[in-house]
Amino acid sequence: MANIDKIRDDLENFKINVAEDLERYRLHFLSKKSELQTLLSEIKNVPVEERKSFGQKVNELKKRAQAYFDEQMERLESAVQTQSSSVDVTRPATALELGSRHPISIMMDEVCRIFERIGFTTVSGPDIEDDWHIFTALNFAEEHPARDMQDTFFIDQKPDIALRTHTSTLQVRTMEKQKPPIRVICPGRVFRNESITSRAHCIFHQMEGLYIDENVSFADMKQTLMYFAKQMFGENTRIRLRPSYFPFTEPSAEMDVSCNICGGKGCALCKHTGWVEILGCGMVDPNVLENCGIDSKKYTGFAFGLGIERMTMLKYKTDDIRLYFENDVRFLQQFSSAKI
Ligand code: DAH
Repeated sequence: MANIDKIRDDLENFKINVAEDLERYRLHFLSKKSELQTLLSEIKNVPVEERKSFGQKVNELKKRAQAYFDEQMERLESAVQTQSSSVDVTRPATALELGSRHPISIMMDEVCRIFERIGFTTVSGPDIEDDWHIFTALNFAEEHPARDMQDTFFIDQKPDIALRTHTSTLQVRTMEKQKPPIRVICPGRVFRNESITSRAHCIFHQMEGLYIDENVSFADMKQTLMYFAKQMFGENTRIRLRPSYFPFTEPSAEMDVSCNICGGKGCALCKHTGWVEILGCGMVDPNVLENCGIDSKKYTGFAFGLGIERMTMLKYKTDDIRLYFENDVRFLQQFSSAKI
């Protein structure tokens, strides 16, 4: 009987605040090993005359313990529900801002696709290069003023190493690895120590093209570049080749396309000429072929280097190259039709 009273006291003093308390309560009063359960199994050993009232009390206590447990469990459960119902699950979610592809990336992909359709393969190579791949293999003579055509970022401690000034380095890397026939297109970032203006930047992108096989002619080059210009800027686009000089090609030319910003009438981008220069090109100099281990008596080829920023400006009718490097989302969002 004393035990019953003690358990009743314990029960009344037991505070249930959180779910863990409820579990402790269950173990203490309702589990098989609890004192209350032991008392229940003890009923049969109590002398007959006391058994009835003892049994009643223990059972009553058991009921009470169970009822309190059920009540507290319900209370805790409904508290959890009220808490979570303060979140309105039907409210529209805050939209995740999606980025868009950078116009320069869009353009580089597009150029690759156009050349891949006529059998070119895309390859890439390092931004940090050695003198051999930037200049020497490409027929720039030692101390030749042509090395000054491109203002190079050199590395003080290592005079042989520089940031590549053009993607023509990839012509050399490809020919060193691969035997003709070669048809590659090589996109990449290039660096020049130039002051930044609306038309020039010290970091920009180029795309090198190289085609080496037997009997490749200047006419093949012209036809390939015309195909490219029309695919990129539309059927009505016209091209013109102007004689030029590059140490690695002979003969060399620069190619202009008709300006599609002003339609030929004259504007800032075409410097009021109606034409915009987009690439340098020419027949690969035999010295370059030989430097890269290719027999110049058997093979000929053409190469070209496209300026990606200039073409992107033309295609998207933008008149300031700096916009491509500032990462102003108001500018970049305009290309969101190409969202990934
Ligand atoms: N590398 C030249 C430049 O950066 C562009 C160029 C001209 C590339 C003629 C060529 C080429 O492959 O044949 O100005």
